[in-house]
Amino acid sequence: MAEINLLRRYPKAKRNIEKRNSVQGAENIAIARQYGREYFDGTRDTGYGGYRYDGRWVAIAEDMVEHWGLKAGDRVLDVGCAKGFLVKDLMKVCPGLEPFGLDISEYALLNCEPEVVGRLHLGNCLRMPFPDNAFKAVIAINVVHNLEQSECVAAVREIERLAPGRGYIQVDSYRDAREKEIFLSWVLTAKTHYDPAGWNQLFGEAGYTGDCNWTIIE
Ligand SMILES: C[S@@+](CC[C@H](N)C(=O)[O-])C[C@H]1O[C@@H](n2cnc3c(N)ncnc32)[C@H](O)[C@@H]1O
Repeated sequence: MAEINLLRRYPKAKRNIEKRNSVQGAENIAIARQYGREYFDGTRDTGYGGYRYDGRWVAIAEDMVEHWGLKAGDRVLDVGCAKGFLVKDLMKVCPGLEPFGLDISEYALLNCEPEVVGRLHLGNCLRMPFPDNAFKAVIAINVVHNLEQSECVAAVREIERLAPGRGYIQVDSYRDAREKEIFLSWVLTAKTHYDPAGWNQLFGEAGYTGDCNWTIIE
C-alpha cells in the first residue's frame, strides 16, 4: 500500500470555517447525509453549495491515466462518483477508456453530466454489483469515511476485490490536534475519521493493497 496524492492538481477549496461552525448542527448534518438536492446544490450550510462541472477533474484524470497506465478498453470505477465529473474527464483525456461510476445518491445520478448517462450505477459501496477483479482501477474519493467504522472495512474490502492492488482511496484525516479541531468544525457527512496511522490500520484490517491519501483541511 502506498500513500500517493493523485489530487495534487486539484484546486484548493475555499472554506469559511467560522460560518460553517455556526450553522453546523444535527439538522444540517441529517440533511447532508441524505445526499439529495440540499447536499449538492443547496447552500454551503448543508453541503457543496452548488456542485457544478468546471473542468477541475481533467488534470486529476490525466494523472490517473498515467499512474495506472490506462488505455482504451480498460474499465475504471469511480465509487462515490456523484454527478460523474471524473468519469466524464477520464473519457475526455483517454479516448476509448471505459470509466463507470457508482453512487448512493439518486439525485446526483438524475443530474449527471450528459456524456456519462448510462455509465453511472445507483448503489452502495458496501456491496458493489461487479465481479471480482472487474476493473483496471477503482477510485474512491471522499466516500469511505461517510460509513460507520465496520462498514468502512467492508467497503475497502470491496474496492480491493474489484481491483486488487489497484485502488485509490482518499479519506478525511488530520495530523494533529489543531487539524482535528478544524475538521470537526467543518465535517457534515463523515462518520469515521482517523489520523493517517489510524486509517492505515483500518486499511490493513481490510487487506487493502492499493494506494491512499488524505483530505486534510489546513
Ligand atoms: C464528498 S462526496 C464526493 C464526490 C466525489 N467523489 C468528489 O470527490 O467530488 C461523497 C459522495 O459519496 C456518495 N456516497 C455516500 N455514501 C455512499 C455509499 N454508501 N455508497 C456509495 N456512495 C456513497 C455521496 O452521494 C456523494 O456523491
